[in-house]
Parts: sequence; structure tokens; C-alpha cells
Amino acid sequence: MNNKNIFAFGLGLGTRNSQNEVIEVLYTVFQVNPSAQISQILMSIVPPTLDHSVFFELNDENQKALDSRLAEQNEIELLTAVTRIVRANHPIIICVIKEDSPPLSIPEAFLKLHLLSSCLVRPHQINIEGIFSILRNIAWTNQGPIDLQDLAKQRLTARASGKHLSVDSIDKFPKMTDYIVPPNVRIADSSRVRLGAFLGEGTTVMHEGFVNFNAGTDGPAMIEGRISAGVIIGANSDLGGGCSTMGTLSGGGKEIISVGENCLIGANAGIGIPLGDRCIVEAGLYVTAGTKLTTIDASGKVRDQIKARELAGKDDLLFRRNSITGAVECITSNQSAEVQLNTELHKND
Ligand SMILES: CC(C)(COP(=O)(O)OP(=O)(O)OC[C@H]1O[C@@H](n2cnc3c(N)ncnc32)[C@H](O)[C@@H]1OP(=O)(O)O)[C@@H](O)C(=O)NCCC(=O)NCCS
Repeated sequence: MNNKNIFAFGLGLGTRNSQNEVIEVLYTVFQVNPSAQISQILMSIVPPTLDHSVFFELNDENQKALDSRLAEQNEIELLTAVTRIVRANHPIIICVIKEDSPPLSIPEAFLKLHLLSSCLVRPHQINIEGIFSILRNIAWTNQGPIDLQDLAKQRLTARASGKHLSVDSIDKFPKMTDYIVPPNVRIADSSRVRLGAFLGEGTTVMHEGFVNFNAGTDGPAMIEGRISAGVIIGANSDLGGGCSTMGTLSGGGKEIISVGENCLIGANAGIGIPLGDRCIVEAGLYVTAGTKLTTIDASGKVRDQIKARELAGKDDLLFRRNSITGAVECITSNQSAEVQLNTELHKND
């Protein structure tokens, strides 16, 4: 690594498994595009490597070096934040990412997920290619993260000391709120939002809502449906109860879905094409890219039969299944009631 400005860094408490490998990191201090001065200070304590990122443990020796360089350069805010990290039984991990390339390590992957959930970078703005093969499958428990290979032993140890070890999930991603709580959001069931979700201010995620990593809302938004990985929902849009936005991680779909501003996806509906602004999908209607539909213009005139993918990204569309004929229709230049969020539900302070 040379002394160019780095892409990002983070300091936080890690967890090691019984093989002494770092399996996750809770970052408490992190920045994207730090100043040249901070980049240089960090590079001066980084072990030599040719990789685009590196992580290491902050021991007494390099902590002293870091503290004195931060003090010398008058980086008091960062110095205070670093000295506030309580080591306790966990190692302090520093991760420095010089360039935004596919993650190489668990600390790098966790740092990128923190950057997303803190809204320091937007979905698709950061390289997380191959993140699944980097992260480990972990038991997320009431006693913290436990590597699966250590779970049976730790459960017995807990039981022997009169404690109960409860496993909330077995997954590669933890729930976001155990790491980051963004400002002005409401999340009715925290297990439904994974670390790496991006929630804009004023977002409300109700019990049926789900937000995957590298996906989210520009806020305010009402989320009672599922936001799949890679999907972003525009401001003032409403995902109705149980609705679905098609992801590209499995199932063969390639098209990245997005929803514009002031849209409404009705309850139990779904979309497999990106939508522009002010679009509505009738409750219960699933519009996939290949759905054949007739378009009806503002004057009520029925136009051609086309596939829904031809309408991808267009504004002011209303999709419905004609309740008499069963055919799917799209009213273009839709002027029906504008979608408005209930502001009371989005004052999440
Ligand atoms: C699609 C939807 C938005 C249409 O609502 P709307 O614009 O208020 O439409 P209206 O019910 O007032 O109907 C307007 C006209 O379209 C007709 N129409 C509506 N849906 C129709 C359908 N599926 N097939 C045929 N005609 C239909 C109505 O009969 C009415 O005709 P008219 O002008 O001759 O009286 C609404 O049905 C819907 O699905 N909303 C989603 C609500 C939701 O799920 N919210 C989330 C809660 S968790």
C-alpha cells in the first residue's frame, strides 16, 4: 500500500472464534474518503501489504503510535473516538480499505455493510461483489455472535453455568440494529432488516416489511413489503403489506429493480420491472418483465399489447388486473389520486 488517500477505514470490536479467526466486527469509528492527513496517519501504522485492504489488531504498541500521531496532527476528534473504544474481552480491529474492490476479508465486508447502513454510501455505490463467500455462517445469539463450529460447546458451557443460550438466527448477516440505528427510522421487527440495509430518514418498516443488504429507501417511506437485495425505493413511496420487489440474487432475474418517488405497490402485489415516479400497482397484481398487458391512455383509448419490460422506468403508470376480463392493463399518464404518506407515521424522532 502506498500513501495515497484511502477509500475508508474503521475501528471497532471484533469477535474471534476458537481458531482465533475474526468472524465479525462491530465498528464504532469509521469514515469513507477520509482526509489526506488521516489517510497518512493510518497508513503509517498499517502492516505492509500489496492487497487493496488490510486489517489488524490494535495492540498497546500500535495504539500508542496511532494516538501520538493523531495528537501531533491535531486530529482530536478522531483521537477521542479511538480512545473511547473499550477493549474489554474483544480485540480492537482496524480495517483500512485503500481501494473499493471486492472485499477480501470479514472485517472489510463488515466495514462496507456499516458504511451502507450508516448511509455514508448508497446501494450499488460500493463494491461488495462476492460478499457471500467472504462472510461466515454465524449463530447470532443473546450472548453475541458465535461461530457455528463453537456453538455446541458454548451452549453447554452456558447451561453448565446456569445461563440459557438462545439462538436468534443462523445467517451470514446480522440484524442491522445490533450494529447501526440510522436517525429517524422506525423498525417494528428488527430481525427483518439485515446489516447493510440503507434506510433514509422518515422510513417506517412495519412487521411484514423486510430490507436486505445493499437495498433500501431514500426515505420517508412506508415499508410493509419486501425490499430485495439491490432494490432502492424512492422518497414518499409506499410498499403495501406483503408485497414483493424482485431481487437478482436468486431465481435467475437480472434486471435491477427500483421504485421511483410517490409510488404505491399494493398489498400482496409485486414488481419485476423498475418503476418511475408516481406509479401504482393494484393490490394482488404481480407484474413481471414478461407480463403481457394492454395500455390504456389518458383518453381511455386502448392501445397496443406489449410486455411490461417496455414500460420499465416510466412515470405515472397504473397497473391493474381487469376484474371483469382478467387481463392485465396499464393506464398510462395515470392521474388517479396522488400517493401521499401519512406524515404522522413518519415522524420517527
Ligand atoms: C388499483 C387501485 C389503486 C385503484 O384505485 P383507485 O384509483 O382509487 O380506483 P377506483 O377504485 O376509484 O376505481 C376507478 C375506476 O376504475 C375501475 N377499476 C378499479 N380497479 C379495477 C379493476 N381491477 N378492473 C376493472 N376496473 C377497475 C373502477 O371500477 C372505477 O371505475 P369508474 O370510473 O367507472 O367508477 C386500488 O384498487 C388498489 O389496489 N390500491 C392499493 C391499496 C393498497 O394495497 N394499499 C396498501 C395497504 S397495506
